[in-house]
Amino acid sequence: MTPNGSRGLVSLVGAGPGDRALLTLGAAERLRAAELVLYDALVSPEVIELASRAQCFSVGKRAGRRSVPQNTIIRVMIRASRRGRHVVRLKGGDPFVLGRGGEEGLALRAAGIPFEVLQGVSAAIAAPALAGIPVTHRGLASGFVVVSGHDESSYAPILESLAPDSATVVVLMGLTQRRTIARCLLDRGWPPDTSVAIASDAATPAAHTWTGSLEQLGRTASPHPQDATGTIIIGAVVDLATVLASPPATDAAQTAEGKG
Ligand SMILES: C[S@@+](CC[C@H](N)C(=O)[O-])C[C@H]1O[C@@H](n2cnc3c(N)ncnc32)[C@H](O)[C@@H]1O
Repeated sequence: MTPNGSRGLVSLVGAGPGDRALLTLGAAERLRAAELVLYDALVSPEVIELASRAQCFSVGKRAGRRSVPQNTIIRVMIRASRRGRHVVRLKGGDPFVLGRGGEEGLALRAAGIPFEVLQGVSAAIAAPALAGIPVTHRGLASGFVVVSGHDESSYAPILESLAPDSATVVVLMGLTQRRTIARCLLDRGWPPDTSVAIASDAATPAAHTWTGSLEQLGRTASPHPQDATGTIIIGAVVDLATVLASPPATDAAQTAEGKG
């Protein structure tokens, strides 16, 4: 039975960045109840395992294989829900953050299919946080901008509109274009020594963080394996990671500090 009674339903569910601990309770509940799950490439196996009653199909692009076309995914969801099945469309991070969740919602609405959205923890904030980087910090950045680094025509107008050091810049899908992204900000007047981090495969056992400067980002060879999934973070907040990740002061040091 679907959460809305016997009619079919599509749940657009955010799986978070990977670790099951970052899945919402609502998402876990929907997965346990699902009859059909269509999941994207970046969803971790430990999250998919929760859908123990469902038929599960990967529809994302992985290891050189092509993804299932978007209109096929939509057709399958519509057909299954018209048969009264509970479909979970499971996406990495949050479905509404660079995840095409809006497009799928519009297509379902046009077809008269009931659907709901269960938000997820987006890599846009989880990847920086897991690397020890707060995207805002009083005195350093009072806002952050998230852009898709997939293609220059989408990120360039946004980056060109940002005054140097005015916000933290978070780039998803930007590893391939990292040189052009760096050039865009340097041309806009951002200092070459602006701190940069690339948090890759966050919330997975392969998690790794590269740090450097904006200038280095522009010339570095790939700091990650070819198939790594990375989020680029640009701005002064990156420097906080070292301090936040350092071990707490010992009691003795604290006592000495207190006496000094
Ligand atoms: C197509 S976008 C989807 C974003 C997703 N809807 C979200 O809210 O996280 C995929 C991009 O998210 C980022 N990303 C996703 N998972 C990540 C992870 N575990 N570690 C670092 N970055 C990740 C990468 O930049 C990747 O190219």
